[in-house]
Amino acid sequence: MAAVVFVTRPLPAPGVEAFEDAGVEVRHNPEDRPLTRAELLEGVVGADALVSMLSDRVDAELLDAAPSLKVVANYAVGFDNVDVAEARRRGVEVTTTPDVLSEATADLAWALLLAATRRVGEAERFVRAGLWEGPGPRQLLGQAVGGRTLGIVGMGAIGQAVARRARGFSMPVVYFNRRRVPETLEQELGARYVSLDELLATADVVSLHAPLNDDSRHLIDAAALERMKPTAVLVNTARGALVDEAALVDALREGRIAAAGLDVYEREPLLSEGLAELENVVLTPHIGSATIDTRAAMVRLCLDNVVAVLAGRPALTPAPPR
Ligand code: 8YV
Repeated sequence: MAAVVFVTRPLPAPGVEAFEDAGVEVRHNPEDRPLTRAELLEGVVGADALVSMLSDRVDAELLDAAPSLKVVANYAVGFDNVDVAEARRRGVEVTTTPDVLSEATADLAWALLLAATRRVGEAERFVRAGLWEGPGPRQLLGQAVGGRTLGIVGMGAIGQAVARRARGFSMPVVYFNRRRVPETLEQELGARYVSLDELLATADVVSLHAPLNDDSRHLIDAAALERMKPTAVLVNTARGALVDEAALVDALREGRIAAAGLDVYEREPLLSEGLAELENVVLTPHIGSATIDTRAAMVRLCLDNVVAVLAGRPALTPAPPR
């Protein structure tokens, strides 16, 4: 009898068909929306493998409902939705999709950096509203990009891809990471290791690329925002809860920092009160990895992980230990 994989949302090409072609029986949510908790718990019954989305909480209750589960392939590099320790305690492997999305996510971080710094969202709304009466010398003045300091919080693969792009914009890079990266890599990236406090005080742009866990939740709180320059821009393409979103709304409203570019939110898809009304924030709907090629590569990596674990081989990209 073929192994059963439960896929919680329709996947982009090569799609769930790729799993069928690999000889596993696929059950999947046909609707392009997150499953309710009840639907998720019902869907995993009898499954050998689960392809989960960030919106699916994989915890003891879910694992209880799926005693035959051998692998959870999370369709993401982040895995804060999965209780990895609990899964592994029960012999269930957890895999993620690292590397294949680093360049796409770094591109979006730069798109937000540039858009927030140069007030692109505000400018676009201005044109679309029919308010433009021709170019003016005082219109929509933003901050310069070139020569200003980029502060990267979290120097993993995505942080590194963001740092590499800084050279093209003549931006010196400082970074903070739980562990300092090797000196050869620092030299290659032209990045200087500093404390988080120093980074916040000196960076003109602060870009977040850290995983969400108990240590990093609200890393950027009211006190951290207070340390940033009033001209600084905050970019978040990592996880919304790295930032105290209500404190960020206050800081943006009161001009304590200049602007923000956000792809992720504390309670997706909800936005904190007042955020969407602010002119000095650029908002995108969690599309960091959303290129055709990247999302296809994520599907293939989930598939390869599922096939490997079901065949008794080690996973290709197991969730890393903390
Ligand atoms: C999502 C992400 O997986 O990889 C991550 O950690 O946050 C994203 O790539 C993506 O939005 C798929 O739904």
